[in-house]
Amino acid sequence: MWKKLLLGPRPSNEAVENPLYNGIDRGRLPVHTAIIMDGNGRWAEGRGLLRTAGHTAGVDALKQVLKVAIDLELPALTVYAFSTENWKRPHTEVDFLMRLFVDYLTKEIDEMDEDNVKLRFLGRMDELSPALKDLARVAVERMKDNTGVCFNVAMNYGGKDEILRATREIARRAQARALSPEDVDEKLFESCLDTEGLPPVDFVIRTSGDMRLSNYLLWQAAYAEFWFTDTNWPDFTPACFVEALKDFGKRKRRFGGLKNK
Ligand code: FPP
Repeated sequence: MWKKLLLGPRPSNEAVENPLYNGIDRGRLPVHTAIIMDGNGRWAEGRGLLRTAGHTAGVDALKQVLKVAIDLELPALTVYAFSTENWKRPHTEVDFLMRLFVDYLTKEIDEMDEDNVKLRFLGRMDELSPALKDLARVAVERMKDNTGVCFNVAMNYGGKDEILRATREIARRAQARALSPEDVDEKLFESCLDTEGLPPVDFVIRTSGDMRLSNYLLWQAAYAEFWFTDTNWPDFTPACFVEALKDFGKRKRRFGGLKNK
């Protein structure tokens, strides 16, 4: 079903003709790209700026990357905005990030909707501020029937936490005798994850040099290809994204079997 989307309506002429996209094999683009936008703090510190300036610059990088996803009609893009572990940061930084998310949504909702983006959030939204929660709810509702890029923002998200929440939900249903242990299969389990209905992640990009998953989409990225770069997130340009996408197109994917896919 998701593969068909790649063969769906072509992007606008403007996007097709953009020389940035020359050399991309559109039949070999990832279906679900997940990005760990790391290095905002290091980007700022390297310039003698406050870490928060790095997060502000990170918003611009995100806007440009989403634009590429829209132009190339990538079916799904998920970004790691705030992890369940990020609460350990100083209050001032956490508060700044929360305000930045509110500001981002307030300013970007109209354009996202015009671009036919379907916005969604992964993670424990119930623990966020009422302002952020409300804004997110309204934005999701407004874009729920859009058919373009599924843009997922992981906020207060942790892969282990998500798996535990899904497990608890299944245990509750079993306790209520709504299902038996034999009913628990991948399909049922996936229907209890925050990513319900989304395709598996086939490409993970992480910026800023670290090569780890950091509790991100642990279940969904089981067969993902990885792409790491030393570039800090605020410097991750559309050209960097295109380079990564071209590299994905060259990967041989066997999913544990012998044939390349
Ligand atoms: C990692 O850099 C980044 C974050 C924890 C926050 C990500 C947020 C943005 C990129 C802002 C834009 C996002 C949205 C949804 C509007 P870091 O602070 O861990 O950098 P460091 O590893 O260099 O310290």
